[in-house]
Amino acid sequence: MLAADLNCVTSSASMADLAPLRTTRNLVDLAQDLEGITLVWDDGRVSRFTAAWLRDNCACPQCRHPQALERTYMFIDHATPTILAAAIGPGEVVDITFAAGSESHSSRFTKGWLREYGCCEDALREREFTQRLWGSDIASRLTTVSYADYMHTSDGVRAWIDAIQTDGVALLKGVPAQPGQLLEVGRRIGPIRATNFGDHYDVVSMPNPNASAYTAMGLELHTDLANWRSPPDVQLLCCLKSTVTGGESVFADGFMVAEELRIADPETHGLLSTHALDFRFHDDSCDIRARAPTIELDRAGRHLQVRFNNWLRAPMRLPEDVIEPMYQALATFWRMLRSPRFHLNVRLEPGDLIAYNNHRVLHGRAPFDPRSGERHLQGCYLNLEDLQSRLRLLDRV
Ligand SMILES: [Fe+2]
Repeated sequence: MLAADLNCVTSSASMADLAPLRTTRNLVDLAQDLEGITLVWDDGRVSRFTAAWLRDNCACPQCRHPQALERTYMFIDHATPTILAAAIGPGEVVDITFAAGSESHSSRFTKGWLREYGCCEDALREREFTQRLWGSDIASRLTTVSYADYMHTSDGVRAWIDAIQTDGVALLKGVPAQPGQLLEVGRRIGPIRATNFGDHYDVVSMPNPNASAYTAMGLELHTDLANWRSPPDVQLLCCLKSTVTGGESVFADGFMVAEELRIADPETHGLLSTHALDFRFHDDSCDIRARAPTIELDRAGRHLQVRFNNWLRAPMRLPEDVIEPMYQALATFWRMLRSPRFHLNVRLEPGDLIAYNNHRVLHGRAPFDPRSGERHLQGCYLNLEDLQSRLRLLDRV
């Protein structure tokens, strides 16, 4: 197939990607050898692409299903490709002809796609997601979006998602204080993540509670559902009634606290990030357990997840000589979590909906007097993938 025949490069879709993948940068040079091509951009960036990688990512209708857009080319069934010819064509697309054994194949890559997927160090660094860690200072800059903007404008929902990605927390104001309304807010993003508590739950004081949340007790800072192998990513809490004395909500950025702990006491941080603890929730209908560290790091050592929930913590099953140090380490982290300099205090009023990353932001509440009035919140959960997907869909237009 000739490059000119490919229908994968159109004005609306490039490289069979539904996003436009445009770049303001221009290509200034292309050098080729058998193993790959090297592109030079007008900002000085130099990107190397190997023949095997380029061939694997060809988006022509022979190599991707034309409707499903999924890869049909299977590199394992073909000889290792080499570059026969490569040139920057009109419109700054890159045309490449590959040779692989007795086969040859032509592909076309737009510059926007090459810029998006290039793997040079600059590009990888540029794509690194930056989180904005916070302490009590966030109170003055907490992202607040109106319900109307969130439900009816792209900018509104984008601002809300951006805040959850960067700060891990965002507030919606003006949500109709009706039961179930938070599900409409959630479905603006994607499907609701159900748990053993259902697709949503009511945080009210109950006569026979099966969880601490359903009492009038104060709740220490915690992450929800630590007893699940994959606790829900994003929690939504919507206030319907709030006339009680007490019951203010408190939040803390677990990554901020963990980062300070890593600097102040690397040994404690190391203990919390290398030893798994057990968590358990059980009632008449379920017995759900998980085992995971308090602080989880990614391969680069960045904070990935905090899991802290004292009432779901099960007996520690650790080497005997680690149990006492683990209690000390948990106490150190817990004392830090209690420090007001990390706290965002919010009194949720009817129509307020606060959402936060449950892997990063811990939440709690002050005790309240159930005889002084009413307090009714509803909660549900969303997947982070669905938030990120919604952002990408917004980027398509
Ligand atoms: Fe909770």
